Amino acid sequence: MRAVVVYESMYGNTHLIADAIGVGLSTAFDVRVLPVSQARPEVVANADLVVVGGPTHIHGMSRARTRKAAVRAADQPVGGLKVEPDALGPRLREWFGWLGRYPVRAAAFDTRMHGHATLTGRAAKGIARRLREHGFDVVTEPESFLVTKQDRLGPQEQDRARNWGAKLATGIKQHASQSVALGG
Ligand SMILES: Cc1cc2nc3c(=O)[nH]c(=O)nc-3n(C[C@H](O)[C@H](O)[C@H](O)COP(=O)(O)O)c2cc1C
Repeated sequence: MRAVVVYESMYGNTHLIADAIGVGLSTAFDVRVLPVSQARPEVVANADLVVVGGPTHIHGMSRARTRKAAVRAADQPVGGLKVEPDALGPRLREWFGWLGRYPVRAAAFDTRMHGHATLTGRAAKGIARRLREHGFDVVTEPESFLVTKQDRLGPQEQDRARNWGAKLATGIKQHASQSVALGG
């Protein structure tokens, strides 16, 4: 079975989480982890599972102006933040604009600040909604992985992402074997 993890990332945190989810999924899937700029529609169409994530910007998915603000923030000498190579290229909102409809299992995640999601917002909610609009079968609740105020991943978040990916893989594997046993 093939899984693709598609991520958007400005400062690299969502990229690290995508890699960790990929490791977790590799217990059951051949996994590709791709930045959104390289996730061509045929890669999605040929997958058995598509996992999509991005950073939360102003309570939802990033926009061109929030990405520019993120680049400006990284230009400040104090934070030590580096932007990903294709940070100002097309991102998840644009990517969804190009996608067709795919009857493929899917899941959504994001990175965001600590705090209750009603206060911070969460990009994964909008990602899950768009996945459903494109015909995907969203098989689990959206998940958030947390960064500090300095935009660094919390200490346990990569472990949590690996476990989340492994749990997702186990659930899908069990479901697939039950379907075979029932002749579904
Ligand atoms: C312009 C901008 C707006 C942001 N808005 C929010 C927000 O509304 N809620 C939140 O929890 N985090 C917010 N953040 C923090 C981001 O979620 C954080 O930078 C991101 O998770 C880091 O992921 P990345 O390293 O993959 O870019 C914002 C960051 C930037 C740069």
